[in-house]
Amino acid sequence: MTQHSLILTEQHGRVGLIMLNRPEALNALSDAMGHEILAAARAFDADPGIGAMVITGSSRAFAAGADIKEMAEKSSVEMYQSNWFSVWDELARVRTPMIAAVAGHALGGGCELAMIADFIIAADNAKFGQPEIKLGVIPGMGGSQRLTRAIGKAKAMEMVLTGRVMGAVEAEQAGLVARVVPVDSLLEDALATAAVIAGMSKPVAMIAKEAVNAAFETTLAEGVVRERRGIYACFATEDQKEGMAAFTEKRAAEFKHR
Ligand code: CAA
Repeated sequence: MTQHSLILTEQHGRVGLIMLNRPEALNALSDAMGHEILAAARAFDADPGIGAMVITGSSRAFAAGADIKEMAEKSSVEMYQSNWFSVWDELARVRTPMIAAVAGHALGGGCELAMIADFIIAADNAKFGQPEIKLGVIPGMGGSQRLTRAIGKAKAMEMVLTGRVMGAVEAEQAGLVARVVPVDSLLEDALATAAVIAGMSKPVAMIAKEAVNAAFETTLAEGVVRERRGIYACFATEDQKEGMAAFTEKRAAEFKHR
């Protein structure tokens, strides 16, 4: 385990684990914390020995939002000139697949960080919400866009306009989370799921992530073109040859790039 000042990181085989570690503030996401998370994610991304990542908080809080105390007195010009929150756009550009393992509060920036990950596995006690409106602001880390794409206009609009919090079961039914698991087995489950991804070819997993993400960025026709380019690129890897040979020979694939 490596102790940074606001996070902890660990390597579990080919899975990189980032643990938010600011329990006294329910993992409120300060600017410094954002930069630590980004640096850790980039280090894992650059490491060929890592094929997937998990980001998690505590059983009480994944993260209770951006750090309200840090922002409270800022002026609009300060926010604008420092490009506040842009660190999270950088995190969304990390190419290695990332799972958010969410227990407890995932509010405001916490919900938004979970949605920046490629998918969410939620503990049965997870609570998702965008309560910024109660503070006189709106989401700022992509929540109005990613939540709407994830669960549709009606529910997203209700949550953003009222600050209503959604429990894990509703979040799964709405399509915000991939799966709900008991809180005690959350991390184990997320690490096992990440290990499955990390057992695949890393470049192919990156191409797959890019293709799915294209569905949120572009038209259907353009997205299909990007997917097609992606699968053609897969055929340039040794891992495609190995994967298809292994199928024909009825054995497990031994991917080179994992
Ligand atoms: N920022 C800064 N500190 C926070 C925080 C936040 N987002 N959330 C919690 N904390 C701090 C509290 O101030 C408290 O610190 P002190 O002990 O020093 O007072 C500590 O964490 C524990 O919190 P509570 O005592 O409030 O714990 P609780 O169990 O009674 O309530 C909670 C939990 C319902 C999550 C409550 O803490 C809460 O409502 N937090 C704020 C949620 C929120 O509004 N998030 C949105 C933030 S704005 C944002 O995220 C903007 C964006 O889009 C990027």
